[in-house]
Amino acid sequence: MENIQLYIKENKPRFLTELIDLLKIPSISADSAYKDDVLKTAEAVKISLEKAGCDQVEVCNTDGYPIVYGEKIIDPNLPTVLVYGHYDVQPPDPINLWNSPPFEPIIKSTDAHPEGAIFARGACDDKGQMYMHVKALEFMTSTNQLPCNVKFMIEGEEEVGSPNLAIFVKNNQEKLKNDVILISDTGMIANDVPSITTGLRGLSYVEVEVTGPNRDLHSGLYGGAVANPINVLTKMIASLHDENNHITIPGFYDNVEELSTEERAQMAKAPFSLEAYKKALNINAVYGEAGYTTNERNSIRPTLDVNGIWGGYTGEGAKTVIPSKAFAKISMRLVPHQDWETITELFTTHFNNIAPEGVSIKVTPHHGGQGYVTPIDNIGYQAASKAYQDTFGKTPIPQRSGGSIPIVSLFEQELNSKSILMGFGLDSDAIHSPNEHFGVFNYLKGIETIPLFYKYFTELSK
Ligand code: BES
Ligand code: MN
Ligand code: MN
Repeated sequence: MENIQLYIKENKPRFLTELIDLLKIPSISADSAYKDDVLKTAEAVKISLEKAGCDQVEVCNTDGYPIVYGEKIIDPNLPTVLVYGHYDVQPPDPINLWNSPPFEPIIKSTDAHPEGAIFARGACDDKGQMYMHVKALEFMTSTNQLPCNVKFMIEGEEEVGSPNLAIFVKNNQEKLKNDVILISDTGMIANDVPSITTGLRGLSYVEVEVTGPNRDLHSGLYGGAVANPINVLTKMIASLHDENNHITIPGFYDNVEELSTEERAQMAKAPFSLEAYKKALNINAVYGEAGYTTNERNSIRPTLDVNGIWGGYTGEGAKTVIPSKAFAKISMRLVPHQDWETITELFTTHFNNIAPEGVSIKVTPHHGGQGYVTPIDNIGYQAASKAYQDTFGKTPIPQRSGGSIPIVSLFEQELNSKSILMGFGLDSDAIHSPNEHFGVFNYLKGIETIPLFYKYFTELSK
């Protein structure tokens, strides 16, 4: 691609201000108080796509937040790349742990980002990464170098499980027809160790409720004589892992894909420092399933984690009470071949089975999705690999990620195409945490690498 580096250099200040403006809008999809801001963000994305040269840009309404769609079709005989991303963000809580306000972006340098990083909610997940694609398109259209057709589909409900995107995809198969799906909503190993994500975990997310007596009781008058729902819930949760940290739900591991010794050896070659990992998290030891390394535990193995637990009195001071109810939110990260609906049922049955007498149990499934793996022997992966080779000067490492983008497996099912996960974030970028940030280097490198993907994908499609 001609002059891409020069183009980025000349436009860097504008690329940064535009992203910063987008990050100022608090598009928190989980919190209905931010509804107007989420809608405002969809409009802003629409305008940015129009400015970048997309035709037919529309804000497509759904039963929830809209999906922004745009396309640039230059020749129906050329391949079509479908870009997916999301403009919604996670809630910023706990807000007091932010060093600067989450929706007032600032650039500061860090150890991992000596060239500076933009601190704001959504900087990395996913506004910054989504916007790289808009700017890459701008470069290609304004310099007459777009080598193929492109479609954009940017949703506003990813962080709440994409409840309406599936319907949109099913109803618009012709419109969304493509040869490859390109997504930047994952990470890479380090700025000098480029990698391409080749797998995502599935997810089953449930909420459980344990009910004991019909009202909160005096813990002196009744304590010891009735089941305390919090005591029961914590005991039940503790029993979900055995002493080797295997999950005890019968049938949970039935379809788990076991990697071959060679595949595991291949994985172990990716650069990783356990010491640096522990240091970054300020922990003195890692913890997890016996027989697996840290990188295996967080990518190719399924997990079960409590995300929140509450009940009883949590206000100031003490209140002697046996609560009537206790609650927890539990997520299970799944690996390919584990079906999330089956796992949700296995969990529900097991959780009911292990409940002692004296309490009743309610399990409410929230959302979920299947895991995903991309083979590396397809032209999509190869095009991405060549693009990174050009911009980083190194062959990227294929790496399976522990995170989930549940809609990706549905794309494969409904649109019959593979998704290529070109993520430019780092694990240390604190997505979903306070002080989320995205490296300026990563942002610009993404803008530089994406057009090369288009170029190589078009060439390899011939
Ligand atoms: N972009 C993330 C997923 C991700 C991050 C995958 C880093 C791989 C590496 C996405 O926005 C996300 O947060 N997904 C949720 C699932 C969703 C159903 C709420 C997740 O993984 O918890
Ligand atoms: Mn994301
Ligand atoms: Mn996210």
